[in-house]
Amino acid sequence: MTAILVLHGPNLNLLGQREPGVYGALTLAEVDRAIAEHARLRGVRVECRQSNHEGVLVDGIHAAAEQGFAGIVLNPGALTHSSYALRDAIAAVAVPVVEVHLSNIHAREPFRHRSVTAAACRGQISGFGLHSYLLGLDAALACLSGP
Ligand code: DQA
Repeated sequence: MTAILVLHGPNLNLLGQREPGVYGALTLAEVDRAIAEHARLRGVRVECRQSNHEGVLVDGIHAAAEQGFAGIVLNPGALTHSSYALRDAIAAVAVPVVEVHLSNIHAREPFRHRSVTAAACRGQISGFGLHSYLLGLDAALACLSGP
């Protein structure tokens, strides 16, 4: 069975209580349950992890293929805008990575408009709340099925 890894970056553990006007009222556990249900309907296995630590996310990306994951859905949180280490990790692996954001980063503060990670990803989905993750999962699966 195809397996997809979902990685949530810094501060996403606070979903539901963190700026709900921007990120919505769902908790991370609720987001992860919706992702798991979407994966079940697609007939794929999904594992969701969250870390506030850049290096843990880098390690997760490095190990994904050997752990059996065929694709990664990544919300790098604020590391999106600053982390060359994450960018290089994404570029270093063959497994397709799809960048997702709950909010539309292009419609927010100027520092959020630039993603240093997106160019190393297959693409970016931004602004659809929970659906960004579900669309991201579908996008990762589309990467696996060729053009
Ligand atoms: C975010 C957008 C980032 O700018 C922010 O730092 C986050 C969440 C999003 O999902 O909208 O932590 O990645």
